[in-house]
Amino acid sequence: MSLHFPNPVGLAAGFDRDGRMISSLNAAGFGFIEIGTINVDSEVQSDDELENIVHNLDQSKNQSTPRPLIGISLGSMRNCIDTHTISDYLQGMEIFWHHSDYIVINLSRPGSSMRSETCNKAEIRVLLEKIKQRHTELCEKNSSHVPVVIKVAIEYDNRDSLLEILSIAHGLGFNGLLIAFENWPSSGDVITTVRKISALTDQLPLIVVGGIKSADDVLQILDAGASLVQCYTLLVEQGPAGMKKMILSLASSVRISNQ
Ligand SMILES: Cc1cc2nc3c(=O)[nH]c(=O)nc-3n(C[C@H](O)[C@H](O)[C@H](O)COP(=O)(O)O)c2cc1C
Repeated sequence: MSLHFPNPVGLAAGFDRDGRMISSLNAAGFGFIEIGTINVDSEVQSDDELENIVHNLDQSKNQSTPRPLIGISLGSMRNCIDTHTISDYLQGMEIFWHHSDYIVINLSRPGSSMRSETCNKAEIRVLLEKIKQRHTELCEKNSSHVPVVIKVAIEYDNRDSLLEILSIAHGLGFNGLLIAFENWPSSGDVITTVRKISALTDQLPLIVVGGIKSADDVLQILDAGASLVQCYTLLVEQGPAGMKKMILSLASSVRISNQ
């Protein structure tokens, strides 16, 4: 992704939807924080709300040093893929281009057709092609590169269907994949699947989220081929102090294993 992450543990999307908590979350030791998911459709979030998010992101640049990297998660509340859905993502990329270190295209919203087993792969391909095209245009127009990552949720029972979407995203040249493991019977199955995806997608950066409870879980997922991980529930259950302890213990494990 051509980015330097201070450490590989990030905060998953959904916790800080509008960027209000960045400096407090920074104190918990996260290497990166994903803001959102933001839906730019005016029926979901008003212009004032979007301006407020941009303001919070700008404020955070001045506040916390060193600042964790900031990802912006973009979504659409539409249940089918049409021009309106596509436009939600494209407009979001435009609005947040200058305010994010990386952008996530969230295809993992529960209830959306994009994560159902029967979702139309041809429509998803069209959506991702349009996003990729706008990405190239924005890079040229702004003479800057903001990496774009695709987030999908993989459930144990429909894992093959989602592997197909990952392969479309990989083929189109996105900068990374963010994979949310949901409803998996065991952490061993998750590790095996991370290994499989990592082999299929070659050198593409993988971010893994879902069920991470300890520094040991993080090390196993990184060892299976992920570049980064994210947590949500662990922060809720253990608070910022518990989160920080986990991240620090991870640092000492990595130092020990590097010696
Ligand atoms: C209350 C709640 C809200 C969430 N909102 C979002 C969201 O807006 N966008 C998103 O991509 N994921 C969202 N997620 C999913 C998390 O980002 C993450 O993928 C999931 O919680 C699994 O990680 P965990 O096991 O560490 O909690 C949400 C999760 C929870 C529990």
